[in-house]
Parts: sequence; structure tokens; C-alpha cells
Amino acid sequence: MRNEHQPTGYSAAQILLHWLIALLVLFQVSFGEDIAPAYRAMRRDETAGADDLFNADLHIYTGLAILALACLRLAIRLIRGAPPAPESEGILLRWVAAAVHLVLYAVIFLMPVTGILAWYLGVGPAGEIHELGKAVIIIALALHVAGALWQHFIAKSDALVRMLRPGTRGAGHTGAG
Ligand code: HEM
Ligand code: HEM
Repeated sequence: MRNEHQPTGYSAAQILLHWLIALLVLFQVSFGEDIAPAYRAMRRDETAGADDLFNADLHIYTGLAILALACLRLAIRLIRGAPPAPESEGILLRWVAAAVHLVLYAVIFLMPVTGILAWYLGVGPAGEIHELGKAVIIIALALHVAGALWQHFIAKSDALVRMLRPGTRGAGHTGAG
């Protein structure tokens, strides 16, 4: 069900932020372990090599960029809202999709925060939570991507297309919102 103020699609900014963050998160998950040697050296009060420090900087600044983009994304989400679940989607899948979205939103805030706590403030348990985050991301993303493909190819809803093409702001409006 869609209320009067709920948009019928995502805006261009929401779509751009979704894919930009997705790209950066995939990079972090693929190369996250590259920061481990510098982190280990730091924890042992040793000096890390130039290559290890470069890898650490790359991971940290990419992570901080994700945090900044996530703040912008959440602000737009709260102000503008998001389109309702596809009409054809049953209550159970709707619930799963909403839960997975919530986990993914949590990931783009909690991964940078636990990373900052571990790296800059030496909070060991934060580093452990950060490492566990990798499995959480992989599981959530597997469900998320499977859901997107299911919606597109099997349920034949517009869920994937509306994350590629900007939609309208609300009832009676046209153009990118
Ligand atoms: C690379 C593969 C990905 C695909 C194919 C994909 C696809 C999609 C699609 C189609 C939607 C729209 C769902 C709808 O209209 O109801 C969506 C929403 C969403 N995606 Fe992704 N996504 C991907 C990666 C990611 C990543 C890496 C994250 C974050 C870590 C993410 C977080 C989200 C969130 C939070 C929403 C809900 C947006 C909202 O309603 O505010 N996605 N995704
Ligand atoms: C969304 C953003 C981020 C993602 C998705 C991410 C992801 C990852 C992944 C997958 C690992 C490898 C875990 C493993 O060894 O199994 C990792 C390690 C690490 N990351 Fe991040 N990271 C992010 C942001 C940050 C930030 C901003 C910082 C620091 C300011 C940071 C600091 C670290 C540290 C210190 C480790 C090593 C932890 C350890 O070996 O115990 N990360 N990260």
C-alpha cells in the first residue's frame, strides 16, 4: 500500500548513492584483509612497511567515504522516503527484504564505526566485531542480490528497474524527484 506522500520510485541521487556505495562495499569486502598486516604491526608497536601502510590507507579512506555517503543517503531516505514493496510480493518476502535492507543500512554505518574504534582508538573487540561483519555482509548481500534477480526475472516486478532508472516523486508528479 502506498500513501499519498510516498514516492513511486527512487530519485537519481538515491540510485547514484546506492550503486556508488555498493561498489565501494564490494571493494572493501574483496580487499579488506589487506589492512590486516598494518593493523597487526600497529598492535605490536612495530613499524609497518610502506606497502602495508598504503593498503591500510586505501581501506580506511574508502571506509570513511562510505560513512560520509551513508549519512547523505540516510538523510535523503528520511526526507524523501522510498517506494513501497512491489505489489506482487507476499508478506514473508516483504519482511525478509525489509530486514535485509535494515542490515545493509546498519553495515554501512557500523563497519566504519567499528573500524575507526579499532584503528584509531585501539578498541580490540571493535576489531573483532568488524571482522565478523564480513560474513554478515556476504550473507545479507547474497539474499539481497538473489531477491533483486528473483523480482526481475521470476516475479517480473519493477524492483530492479527502479533502482536503475529514476522514478516520480509522488502521485501527479512526473520526472526525476
Ligand atoms: C551489487 C549488487 C546489488 C544489487 C543487484 C542491488 C539491488 C538493489 C535493488 C534492485 C534495490 C531496490 C529494491 C526495491 O526497489 O524495493 C536495492 C535496494 C537497496 N540496496 Fe541494493 N543492490 C546491490 C548491492 C547493495 C549493497 C552492497 C548495499 C549496501 C551495503 C545495498 C543496500 C541496499 C539498501 C539499503 C536498499 C534499500 C533502499 C531503500 O529502500 O532505502 N545494496 N538494491
Ligand atoms: C563500510 C566500510 C568498511 C567495510 C565494509 C570494511 C570491511 C573490512 C573487511 C572485510 C575486513 C577483513 C576482515 C578479515 O580479516 O576477515 C576489514 C578489516 C579491517 N578494517 Fe575494515 N571495513 C570498512 C571500514 C573501515 C574503516 C573506516 C576502518 C578504519 C578507520 C577499518 C579498519 C579495519 C581494520 C583495522 C581491519 C583489520 C581488523 C583485524 O584484522 O582484526 N575498516 N574491514
